[in-house]
Amino acid sequence: MDDWRETDMSQLSESGGRTYKIEANLLDLQNELREGDSLLDVGCYLGDIADFCEDYTGVDINVDSVEMAKSFHPKKNFYVGDVFSLEGAYDVVFCSRVLIHLPDFEKALKRLWCATKRVLIVVIKIGKHDTVTKLEKSNQWYYFRVMALKNVIDAAEALTDTFEIRKHKYASLILRRC
Ligand SMILES: C[S@@+](CC[C@H](N)C(=O)[O-])C[C@H]1O[C@@H](n2cnc3c(N)ncnc32)[C@H](O)[C@@H]1O
Repeated sequence: MDDWRETDMSQLSESGGRTYKIEANLLDLQNELREGDSLLDVGCYLGDIADFCEDYTGVDINVDSVEMAKSFHPKKNFYVGDVFSLEGAYDVVFCSRVLIHLPDFEKALKRLWCATKRVLIVVIKIGKHDTVTKLEKSNQWYYFRVMALKNVIDAAEALTDTFEIRKHKYASLILRRC
């Protein structure tokens, strides 16, 4: 969905970032990070986690969000980009609450995996069934996708047999290269 390219992020930013809903997932990320790692944060929004890692890069499809992230974290790397056209490869790739807004989970997961040298963490809602909710906000459509556990496992198994799923409010799907 292209809606995010046009979304006015200044309204969202008034809440001062939204990582409070994904604290458990952020602990999962911290546990995976090693000294000297490079970290790619896909759908970085305001770059809330830029200080988790010395060698941090944030990418987001929304220009305003990247501009704000740069102003908050002038010493970190940010660029405007799409999950489907990522540049380079990173030790750890983190992608939180982005794939729930995209129609093609498997394709996005594959692209994220290509950008991963060691560990990929995807934060997503998991339920019993695949469901897609379409919401209209300020004349823009937003999709919110809940993935069925079986489909998430199938998609991860197609890439690696070294993965785990940690169930929190949002689940952490953790894929590792051996
Ligand atoms: C719900 S926010 C999540 C922000 C943050 N990762 C978190 O979990 O709090 C979704 C973010 O993903 C970005 N986004 C949406 N589609 C994207 C895409 N195709 N490629 C890169 N970023 C995208 C949006 O611009 C937005 O900043």
